[in-house]
Order: sequence, then C-alpha cells, then structure tokens
Amino acid sequence: MSDSTATASRTEGAATTGDSLTIRDNRTGQSYDVPISQGTVKAADLGKIRAGDDQPGIAVYDPGFVNTASCKSAVTFIDGEKGILEYRGYPIEQLAEKSSFLEVTYLLIHGELPTREQYESWVHEITYHTFVHENVRNFMEGFRYDAHPMGMLMASVAALSTFYPESRNISDADNRHMQIVRLIAKMPTLGAWSFRHAQGKPYVYPDNDLSYTANFLAMLFRMSEKKFEADERLVKALDVLFILHADHEQNCSTNAVRSVGSSQVDPYSATAAGIAALYGPLHGGANEAVLRMLRRIGSVDKVPEFIEGVKNGKERLMGFGHRVYKNYDPRATIIKKACDDVFEVTGVNPLLQIAQELEKIALEDEYFVQRKLYPNVDFYSGLIYEALSFPPEMFTVLFAIGRTPGWLAQWLELVQDKEQKIARPKQIYTGDRTLDFVPASERWK
Ligand code: CMC
Repeated sequence: MSDSTATASRTEGAATTGDSLTIRDNRTGQSYDVPISQGTVKAADLGKIRAGDDQPGIAVYDPGFVNTASCKSAVTFIDGEKGILEYRGYPIEQLAEKSSFLEVTYLLIHGELPTREQYESWVHEITYHTFVHENVRNFMEGFRYDAHPMGMLMASVAALSTFYPESRNISDADNRHMQIVRLIAKMPTLGAWSFRHAQGKPYVYPDNDLSYTANFLAMLFRMSEKKFEADERLVKALDVLFILHADHEQNCSTNAVRSVGSSQVDPYSATAAGIAALYGPLHGGANEAVLRMLRRIGSVDKVPEFIEGVKNGKERLMGFGHRVYKNYDPRATIIKKACDDVFEVTGVNPLLQIAQELEKIALEDEYFVQRKLYPNVDFYSGLIYEALSFPPEMFTVLFAIGRTPGWLAQWLELVQDKEQKIARPKQIYTGDRTLDFVPASERWK
C-alpha cells in the first residue's frame, strides 16, 4: 500500500489555516485531510474514505446522536459546562424575568425582538386564532372518558392538518406564518379541552379578553363564573414556566419535528410528531417521577436514608443530573423562585420541604459533587404544577404548549435551510444475506 496523502474534501481556507483533521486509514496506508468547520467534520467527507473502489465509505456509528450535529441552528445556545441557556442570544434569566411568553414566541419565530407594532399585531393574531373548528371539538369528544390528555393533544394537533390542507404548501412564507400562528394559538385550547375531557367537565371556549396564559387557565378551570380571572401571580408563574420550556435546541422532540418535517409534510403533522416524542417518559415525564419519588420518601427524616439508597445504586435521585448541564441547570434556579410565588397563593406544597432537604444534602454530598449532579428543570416544576391543581398526566401537556414555538422556530429554520435533506440515517446491517426463499407450502409440510 502506498503512503500517499489524499484530500477527502476541501473547503475554503481549510488547507491554509490548518483547520483540518488528518486521518490515516491503516487498511490502505492512505492519509486524508478532512476540513474542520465550527468544530465539526462533514460525515460526507468521511464517506470518501474507502478501503477500495467497490467498498463503502467510512460512516459514523452514533446511536442517540450523542456526538452528531444534524443541523446548523441560530435559535438556542446552550453551554452545559457554564450553565448558560440563551434564546436567539438572550439569556434565559432575563427573558424569564422581563419578557412574556408571547414576546418570547415572537423572538424564537422571527429571530429578533418585536417593535411595539409588531408585538401588538402578533398578540392580536395569536389571540384571534385560539378558537378551533367545531368539528375538532366533536372529534375530541369521541375519545374514551379516561383518555390520556397527551394522546388527545397529539391526535387533535395531527387532525388540524385536515382542516387546513393549504398548510402542505410549505414553500410559501405567508402560508407558513398562518399555520405557525394557528398552532401557537390553538395549543392551549386543545390542551385545556384534553384536561376537561378526562374530568367529564364541559369544554370551555377561549376568552379573547384575556392574555394567552390567563385564557389557558380560564379554559382549564372555569365552571359557572361569568368571567374567570386567575390570580396574576399564578398567571405570571405559568407564563415563566412556558418561557423556560420554549426551546432546548436539538432534544428528542425537536429532532422528531425536524426529522418528520424534512419529508416536507405540513407543520401540524410535524408538531404532532414532536408531541409523540415528548410523550415518552425519558423526555417529558421526569417531573412526574420527581413527585412520585417525593411521595415515596414521605417525610424529611427519611431523606438521609433515601440518599444512602441513591449512593448505593438502589435508587436514582429524580430531577437531578443532566446530559448537557454539568454545573447547574439555569432553568432550575428560575423555577425555584417561581415556586415561592406560587406557594404564596396556593399554600406550601408539603412535599417542598422534602425536596429542599434532598437538595441541601445532595449539594453537599461528595457523591453528587463529584459527579456534577445538580437539580434540573424537573426537580421543582412538578411541585408547581401540582400546586396549580394539575394532575401528573397534564404535566407533559404543559411542556408541549411551552415547547411549541421552539418546535416551530426549528421547523421554519429547517424548511428554509438549503443544506437540509430528508432525514435518512445509515444503519449497520447485522442480519442474514442471500437466503433462498422456501414457499410456505413446502416449509410447513
Ligand atoms: N441520581 C443518582 N445518580 C445519578 C443521577 C441521579 N439522578 N444522574 C446521574 N447519576 C450518576 C450515574 O449513576 C453515574 O454514576 P457512575 O459514574 O458512578 O456510574 C454518573 O452520575 C453519570 O451519570 P450518567 O447516567 O452517565 O449521566 P447522563 O448524562 O447519561 O444522564 C440523566 C443524564 C438526566 C439521564 C440522569 O442524570 C438521570 O437519570 N437523572 C434523573 C432523571 C431526570 O431528572 N431527568 C430529567 C432530565 S432534564 C429534562 C430536560 O432537560 O428536558
């Protein structure tokens, strides 16, 4: 074999700046220069490395995409080591404190903060698309009496694609805008109706005099009142929770939206795919698990024993640890503050004391310190949701409402990105080959 150097691929400047990776293929003795751009190499460049002309190119085996960038995105920045989360460059702490969920949705979708006129027009558009076609209501009423609200939400969002067939025209910017407005606007209506359904309560129509989040609370909890006006502190706390969940770059559900959206399907179907991904316990279900854990511990004096169980590997401290955040989850700090505001109105959730004791002990304990385990967004959010009278099945629905603008901002980026292609990963085939088929009539003799 020769020991020559071949160029797998060249991009501008790569050879001169030295931003490249030299790979030596020991099967052939050949070396390749692969350009590095923004800390990545192109998988297609690796694909040019072959053991022979009739051999497949090198591919990357990466279950769960733990080290694979699937897109370029300007929506959300995360630095897990430093505990930084920014939407379109704005720190989450500032957005949670000084902005509103609808302003954040504008920011995520449009890429910049709105002027006063833009904001007013955005709020007007969203507010006046909160109603759904009456047939959607009839459709939802057909679910079993105890249907999981997340299943109802997913199916209803998918069904919206049949009400807006023009949504398939994803190359038209105005059309895309219309569907984005509809999705953000109708999500609370569908979420609230899914909740009312399981309780056997009549569905409540939107009240367009109210803000986005206040209207959602009214559709959830209004009974015979002429006007339902939730406590402003609760409205603010839920609005903050929506902001905290609005995007988190390429997580499982966002990846599902992008992957399904890459087939150029309408955004309702792509969003329904995101909801399906979020439905799974590994993604949207951790806050429910935190509540179950706190109930199982039962009282503050049982905390040390529980922590010992965690350290011995018998238990997992739910709501602690994160794949990305290794110092702290900035959302957890904000949620803790929202907890105080909510409990001021609803009275303290007795499980809070247990949670605080767990946090105190864990943050001082060598086991957790060494492994960089800190409270994540789910450690306190379940306590707030419970204090707001939500049953655990609703927690993921709330997450889905908050995450919708993020999914749509990412979908919008995808459909306008010329480098994107239909998602189609490779596989490593491990099955049989070239077997001779024997018809059933002969096999079953
Ligand atoms: N309790 C006890 N030990 C833990 C925990 C925990 N919650 N999390 C991680 N560890 C230990 C783990 O056993 C391992 O120890 P060792 O090195 O001795 O084997 C070490 O810490 C590294 O853990 P890992 O499993 O390699 O970390 P990961 O990045 O793969 O997992 C995680 C991240 C979030 C799945 C995990 O921390 C976990 O299961 N946490 C509890 C569930 C939870 O709260 N999930 C919600 C995450 S936030 C949701 C969102 O952002 O959308």
